[in-house]
Amino acid sequence: MTATTPISATLIDGKAFAADLRARIATQVRSMKDNGITPGLAVVLVGEDPASQVYVKSKGRMTREVGMNSYEHRLPAETSQDDLLALIGRLNDDPDVNGILVQLPLPPHMDEAAVINAIDPAKDVDGFHILNVGRLATGQKAMVPCTPLGCLMLLRDRLGSLSGKNALVIGRSNIVGKPMAQLLLRDSATVTVAHSRTANLPDLCRQADIVVAAVGRANFVQGDWIKPGATVIDVGINRGDDGLVGDVDFDAAARVAGAITPVPGGVGPMTIACLLANTLTATARANGLPDPQGLTP
Ligand code: GUN
Repeated sequence: MTATTPISATLIDGKAFAADLRARIATQVRSMKDNGITPGLAVVLVGEDPASQVYVKSKGRMTREVGMNSYEHRLPAETSQDDLLALIGRLNDDPDVNGILVQLPLPPHMDEAAVINAIDPAKDVDGFHILNVGRLATGQKAMVPCTPLGCLMLLRDRLGSLSGKNALVIGRSNIVGKPMAQLLLRDSATVTVAHSRTANLPDLCRQADIVVAAVGRANFVQGDWIKPGATVIDVGINRGDDGLVGDVDFDAAARVAGAITPVPGGVGPMTIACLLANTLTATARANGLPDPQGLTP
């Protein structure tokens, strides 16, 4: 493949998919409101991390756009962990709050696991609480982390059944890599999880029908690692001199892959849409209603 080889892959339009998902969520929010229930999402930001501030702002805006109540709590970086835990306790007890998200990373003096595990698992719309992690791993009804859920929706939309497909997840974070592997396994894919110590990553990649790249290194996955016709999901959001780039060398991979997500406009918009989907699911469950259609795995 050379730079003159035309791009052959189908572009997976996460932006359009997410807009459609939000429209479906808004419809379901309207019918909940007709029955006197307004879903509410509380987002907690500690400190002034610039990227986190951007995320929190757009989470609030999109929450309101689908008709949900948005509650934003911005705390100074030097807030004590006890004060944060006290706020989480109040949100756990507040019947108007159906979902709670504590934006990560937290300042270094805080114990991230202790904070996350203080959230009521029924309101844990990030799916990071240890109970939800365990439920996902054992095939029980869980809250599922938003970014992997979004990737799964795009994969199912593109491929239908994932059964028997070779899937390679590159990255083993608690937020993306590990839950992504669990979701793929649940859909009967054959799953390999690669990481910084993996030997022969290019060879592993060449056997993969599905590649999910979540390593946080710009243009890390090379075009000649991609199996012809493979489906490539790029979770990376790397800020460089040329703006946002993914973890996959897009120009080269798109000449080999069958389908690929762009950056931006691929996985990114799916994350917030899935956060809203999880908030709707949490609201339905809290009110004894069936899970909303098509929003849970
Ligand atoms: N920081 C980066 N991604 C995420 C996410 O999905 N949830 C939370 N809470 N913080 C994040």
